Amino acid sequence: MTGLFITLEGPEGAGKSTNRDYLAECLRAQGVDVLLTREPGGTPLAERIRELLLATSDEAMCADTELLLVFAARAQHLAMVIRPALARGAVVLCDRFTDATYAYQGGGRGLSQERIATLESFVQGELRPDLTLVFDLPVEVGLARASARGRLDRFEQEGRVFFDAVRSTYLKRAAADPSRYRLVDAAQSLAQVQRSLDRLLPEILERHRG
Ligand code: TMP
Repeated sequence: MTGLFITLEGPEGAGKSTNRDYLAECLRAQGVDVLLTREPGGTPLAERIRELLLATSDEAMCADTELLLVFAARAQHLAMVIRPALARGAVVLCDRFTDATYAYQGGGRGLSQERIATLESFVQGELRPDLTLVFDLPVEVGLARASARGRLDRFEQEGRVFFDAVRSTYLKRAAADPSRYRLVDAAQSLAQVQRSLDRLLPEILERHRG
């Protein structure tokens, strides 16, 4: 058994958390050691950085500060949680990872992809997800679902232009590397999305057995 690093990506309101829990349940039913985690966060310190990132405040956060905080949280998460779990052979299911940085800080905030790639190499070395599921849905559907959930965080308060850029960055990255990315149509019913995940299960188990 080798560890397998799976990330789930997509805009707000795409149902990532529900589907992440579903996938974890399916894998555990097959006897797989699954570690469920999320970014930003995943350790007590990284969760504190998450709070800084999501909180609204009178002082505007510079885009570079945001980028560095995201990677600071990631460095901690990798060292304390993700790398140890992969080393013991677990399947790591992570709700968001560096694709979110390309989509939000790159696409949304307009920071250069090269700068993000530099930090990616610095913080992660060679480590990249083995498989990335991109839950895709029209921007207005995602925004409506997010606002129906209640108070909006600092990212959810962004507008249409920001989320159009987030979505198109995810779609571009998925199209550029079909061996790593799988697009999931998150506008379907939950039952349909879960059937798409069921179809992915054999591939995940196969890769994990390596
Ligand atoms: P969520 O995990 O509840 O969806 O919220 C996390 C928010 O953080 C989400 O709006 C996306 C944002 N984010 C970034 O901007 N960059 C990142 O690298 C990550 C992991 C998340």
